[in-house]
Amino acid sequence: MQALRERFQKELSQVRSLRELQEIRARYLGRKGALTEALKGLKALPPEERRQQGRLLNELKASMEEALRQRQQALKEAELKEALTREALDITLPGHYGPPGRPHPVSTVLEEIVEVFLSMGFSVEEGPEVELDYYNFEALNIPRDHPARDMQDTFYVSDDVLLRTHTSPVQIRVMKQQRPPLRFIAPGKVYRCDADVSHTPMFHQVEGLMVAEDISFAHLKGTLEAFLHRLFGQDVPVRFRPSYFPFTEPSAEVDIGCIFCRGSGCRVCQGSGWIEILGAGMVHPRVFEMVGYEPERYSGFAFGMGVERIAMLRYQIEDIRLFFVNDARFLAQF
Ligand code: PHE
Repeated sequence: MQALRERFQKELSQVRSLRELQEIRARYLGRKGALTEALKGLKALPPEERRQQGRLLNELKASMEEALRQRQQALKEAELKEALTREALDITLPGHYGPPGRPHPVSTVLEEIVEVFLSMGFSVEEGPEVELDYYNFEALNIPRDHPARDMQDTFYVSDDVLLRTHTSPVQIRVMKQQRPPLRFIAPGKVYRCDADVSHTPMFHQVEGLMVAEDISFAHLKGTLEAFLHRLFGQDVPVRFRPSYFPFTEPSAEVDIGCIFCRGSGCRVCQGSGWIEILGAGMVHPRVFEMVGYEPERYSGFAFGMGVERIAMLRYQIEDIRLFFVNDARFLAQF
């Protein structure tokens, strides 16, 4: 028994891996293991001796099991430690750095515009960019022979399907869905077959519509003046000029005093001291008829503005095409 104990201890002390440990366990405590065999041999002894030897052998067995358990734990800890060292990451090393993106100036201005109208109680609506002739023209009282329908301005998909040339069709879509009172803006992309320093085939507009009983031109003026003062500053002068749109009557174009020369005349305002910023007017009774609103009962105002145009003024950008060529050096300046 003494020899068995010493041999076991010597072998255990030389174990280097969990696999070797398993082998030792099998050699001593397995089904054919040395200690197991010794226990089997007890049968041949007389009862008195058998009891005494049995007790000692069982003590030895327990101490072997305990020694194996401790060794196993030590080996596992050593293996874990080794793995942690081997797989260590230096999290203080600098990462791969990509320059951060930033909002496009058109997005920034669009967000500002939306924010101002939300604060005045307007909601936000959207309509499709691929539109029916009916919504883009017909229902807006734009007759068949109107120059705005010219093939040169409009991208046609088919005879009666086109890329919307303005956001005004959203007026019709919303009015057909809802009853007055309503007030909303409709931002989005619009398309015209046109390209030079101040025109791109795609650009952004924000439409606005408010309809209720007793809406007057004074509401239109108050709303747009408040909006333009929020966008360009409280001191900027605002003026309304008579104009024409088929879907509003009366119609107006809205100017702000030139923010570059403060009215004295410069290249941007072409010497006039004023910059055109919006189209607007009172909703035409024909439009109300088209959507099933009673023109005698309801009145309303509508307006539309170009987002790129406002962004060009805000950031003093002279060529609208810069917004869409995606030159990172241009975009990084905002
Ligand atoms: N839809 C017009 C345009 O694109 C702008 C406008 C909207 C004018 C609403 C009056 C009322 O030029």
